[in-house]
Parts: sequence; C-alpha cells; structure tokens
Amino acid sequence: MKICLLPGDGIGVEIVDAAVEVLDAAAKKYGFEIEYDKQLIGGCAIDATGVPLPEATIASAKAADAVLLGAVGGPKWDNVAPDIRPEKGLLGIRKALGLYCNLRPMTVSKFTAHLSPLKTERAEGADLLIVRELTGGIYFGEHNEAHLNADGVEEASDVELYTRPEVERIARFAFEAAKKRRGKVTSVDKANVLGSSRMWRKIVAEMQAKDYPEVELNNFYVDNCAMQLVLNPKQFDVILTNNIFGDILSDEASTIAGSIGLLPSASLGDGTGMYEPIHGSAPDIAGQGIANPLATILSVAMMLRYSLNQNEAADAMEAAVDAVMEQGYRTPDLYAEGLKKVSTSEIGHLVAQELLK
Ligand code: NAI
Ligand code: MG
Repeated sequence: MKICLLPGDGIGVEIVDAAVEVLDAAAKKYGFEIEYDKQLIGGCAIDATGVPLPEATIASAKAADAVLLGAVGGPKWDNVAPDIRPEKGLLGIRKALGLYCNLRPMTVSKFTAHLSPLKTERAEGADLLIVRELTGGIYFGEHNEAHLNADGVEEASDVELYTRPEVERIARFAFEAAKKRRGKVTSVDKANVLGSSRMWRKIVAEMQAKDYPEVELNNFYVDNCAMQLVLNPKQFDVILTNNIFGDILSDEASTIAGSIGLLPSASLGDGTGMYEPIHGSAPDIAGQGIANPLATILSVAMMLRYSLNQNEAADAMEAAVDAVMEQGYRTPDLYAEGLKKVSTSEIGHLVAQELLK
C-alpha cells in the first residue's frame, strides 16, 4: 500500500513521525506492506518551491492509496500573498482529490470526560460521527458579492444548491458507516424552510427504505440538532448533513470532547482518501517534542478502516490508544497530577508497542 505523507508545518512533522511508527507496527502485526512517499505542503512548500501545493505533491497524493496530513500554516507565512497562503495548499489538495465526504468522529472516553465543558456524566460515553458533504451547497453555489440592485439598494446572495447524485453519494457514506457502528443515522436539515433541505430529506428517506431498511433513520432540524448536541450528545450515532450545517455542527461537537489533541478526521472521495487531525500546526509548541500525536494516530486508524480495508488493525490501533491512556501516559496537554508525563515520540512508541503485543 502506498501512503503519501504530508507532514506540513509546525507540529505536523512531529505528530506524523509518531503516527508512522504506529502504522509500521500495525503493518508488521497484520502482515501488510507500506511504501511511504513524503511530500511538501503548506508553508514548508512555499519556502522550498514558492507555492503551497507543488505539482509533485498532487501527483504523489493521486498515486497513493491514502494521504496522511499533519497541519499547515503558522506566523512565519502570515504575510505571504493571499493566493499562495499555506491553507491554499489544503484547499487545493482536497479539490485535486475530489474529496466530497468529510468524516469527523467525536468520542468522549472516561479519560477525558472531565475535560468536557459539559457535565461529566452528560459527556462521558458520547461516540458520534459527523458525515458532512464537502464540495457542494452554499459554499460552492453562485455567489453575488455586494452590489446595488435595480432599486439602488445594496444586496448580496449565495445559493444553496444540491443535485440528487450529490445527496445520494454522501448519504450512502452515512448509511454504510452506520452499518459498521450502531446502525443509526440522524439526517440534519432545515426542511421547514428550505427547498434544498426538503429534497435532501426526501432522497435520504427513499434510500433508507430501498437499500438500508436495517439502519434507523431520523431527521432533525439543524437548530434542534445544535441544542441536542449539548443536551444529550449520547443520543447520536451518525449525523448526516450538508456542507454549511456540517461545518458548524462539527466544530460544536468537537468542543464537547474538551481537547483537540484526540480528534481525528477523514476526507473521502471516489479515489484517494485524506486523513488528518482536526487541530492546526500549533506554532506555540512546535519543535519541542510535546505535541499530542494521538489525534493523528486515530486518523491513521480511520485510514486503515476507510481506505486500506484493514478493519481489524483499525480496531486494534484504537484499542492500543485506549490502553496507553488507561496506563496513565499523557502528553503535557492532557497531563494532570498522578499521571505519567511523556513526549510526542514516547507516547507514539508506547502505542506501537501496545499494538505489537
Ligand atoms: P491550533 O489547533 O494549531 O492550536 C490551538 C491550541 O491548541 C494551541 O495552544 C496549540 O498549542 C494547541 N494544540 C493544537 N494541537 C495540539 C496537539 N496535537 N497537542 C497539544 N496541543 C495542541 O490552532 P491555531 O493556533 O488557531 O492555529 C495555528 C496555525 O495552524 C495557524 O497558522 C492556522 O492557520 C493553522 N491551522 C491549520 C489547520 C490545518 O492544517 N488543518 C487547522 C487549523 C489551524
Ligand atoms: Mg469550520
């Protein structure tokens, strides 16, 4: 299997190194072989080539079975021209790979429930997956910048548009993911006011009836879903939603976890999938060997599950992370008295060793 590594900037380098050690351990244990191709993206690519997404990076990503990305950006590149900013590298690679499905799991384990802004008992045990449509809807619909209309009044507009194939392909991801989880999909829309949402709801219901009768489907309006997420996050298994609602709900859900050091993500299309932690390049702690690599390691577990068809290895990797937490090892971001403080590479090594047991 070919993996394109894009460590990027800041802590990206350290956390990807740690995750590679764990992936190597999984390959050894489960008997598959991995070939790595490391490429540049973001600020480091600007420094080396003048652009945030060199052609060689795109070619390597397209040729790979999956991409593992660290993070991009940092104050060093705050003043580069807008069209070559580090984030342009991220947007560019997502576009080049046609990644229309964004998966954002959020789990609250007994080790981190006390960090949640919610009451511990309300948060502990939450385990949900947000499936967000990533390339359609209002972010990509027709934009009309502010202008004077025929009556001389300033106006601006953005169009929310979805086609049936776009809804079907993202809904299919959600139903398939639910089958591998607890078998429940909550589709989130605003069907009381939006025609695009009424079509979305109709298509999802048709698919459930025809192809996924074993999956339970319910529908929430987005405003209610936003409330339910903080009132009772444990009621959710898979949340299926469009681009803009998913953007907002996934950030809301991530705060419930209480720490960004443990949250992975995946972006999928019809070809190569891309996996990355949800946090950024953390320039404030970069180069010190103290960043938490577990979000990246859990992103690798998603890679095993969704791109490499290694479900057993994926489960084992997640269990190894839990075991290391259970043994009390923590990077400084999660450290508290009575626990064992370890570095980025140390915790990576511990997870790798656990996996090899
Ligand atoms: P950030 O996520 O990099 O950091 C926020 C805070 O969380 C910082 O105090 C940081 O030290 C801490 N933190 C983040 N990840 C951590 C980890 N794995 N272990 C321990 N502590 C961790 O967000 P911020 O500060 O807003 O952005 C920093 C840079 O990252 C900016 O240039 C931003 O544009 C970029 N960024 C990149 C993203 C990406 O590559 N996908 C996403 C978000 C931000
Ligand atoms: Mg956002």
